[in-house]
Amino acid sequence: MMALEVADLRVERAGRAILAVPRLAVEAGEVLAVLGPNGAGKSTLLRCLALLERPTAGAIRFLGRELSWRDAVTYRRRTATLFQEPLLLDTTVEQNVATGLRLRGVVDKEITRRVGVWLERLGITLLARRAAHTLSSGEARRVSLARALVLDPEVLFLDEPFAALDVPARATFARELAALLDAQRTTTVLVTHDRAEVQALADRVAVLLAGEIVELGAVERVFAEPRDPRAAAFLRAAELPQRRRSNAPCAMLKSRTGEERLWPER
Ligand SMILES: Nc1ncnc2c1ncn2[C@@H]1O[C@H](COP(=O)(O)OP(=O)(O)OP(=O)(O)O)[C@@H](O)[C@H]1O
Ligand SMILES: [Mg+2]
Repeated sequence: MMALEVADLRVERAGRAILAVPRLAVEAGEVLAVLGPNGAGKSTLLRCLALLERPTAGAIRFLGRELSWRDAVTYRRRTATLFQEPLLLDTTVEQNVATGLRLRGVVDKEITRRVGVWLERLGITLLARRAAHTLSSGEARRVSLARALVLDPEVLFLDEPFAALDVPARATFARELAALLDAQRTTTVLVTHDRAEVQALADRVAVLLAGEIVELGAVERVFAEPRDPRAAAFLRAAELPQRRRSNAPCAMLKSRTGEERLWPER
């Protein structure tokens, strides 16, 4: 079954088309990654899918039913979004994670139980009473993710969930998130510019370039043999070039004896 379907989506901003997606479907229970460079339109697409931003044209269907802007509040309650910039409230970690449940009218006892479970799962139980503004950016990411997952959403929208994490934290966090998503089978749309994140988490990947999906398929297939030449070029360019030492800049140094030498020596 399709959880989400997009038809003829267009977004124009400041007189310019920034997104044009004729068709996109997200299967129930899958993790779909949207991969593309800065400015490709990834966050715009995610916000449209989450009904947080209104497209210029097009339709979004949720479980086969077309969504209207009037459904936004009800729909947002069935989904959860992790924004690119973590937006935490100026209160404790615990309260940050509890707020969404409180807004949804969950009773106190149940809030305490669910918040406890998610603080534990994300390894931030010891931070429960800390003020959110004192957290490191990696810790803040975990709190943002707990805030989204505690809602037990039917659809999860993640915008660059690993931004601002150092390499070891990113690896640990990726493993944990992959395990969580596997266990929960929550339909997830993950936006990123990083192919390693796609490989760690997604079932399928859509390559978004300049507002258009140029390739869509199973992660291994797209990475191993992209069919679209633009997608292929982007995926190749995503690998960092090796520095060639022989081209490293060097300087002429005068030694104390007055002779000139290259530094570093070749
Ligand atoms: N309100 C707006 N007015 C004008 N241009 C906009 C507006 N909102 C977004 N854009 C432009 O639309 C394009 C897509 O933006 P978007 O934030 O979706 O990109 P992105 O793929 O998420 O990039 P990043 O990887 O940097 O987060 C960008 O070129 C951006 O400057
Ligand atoms: Mg973005």
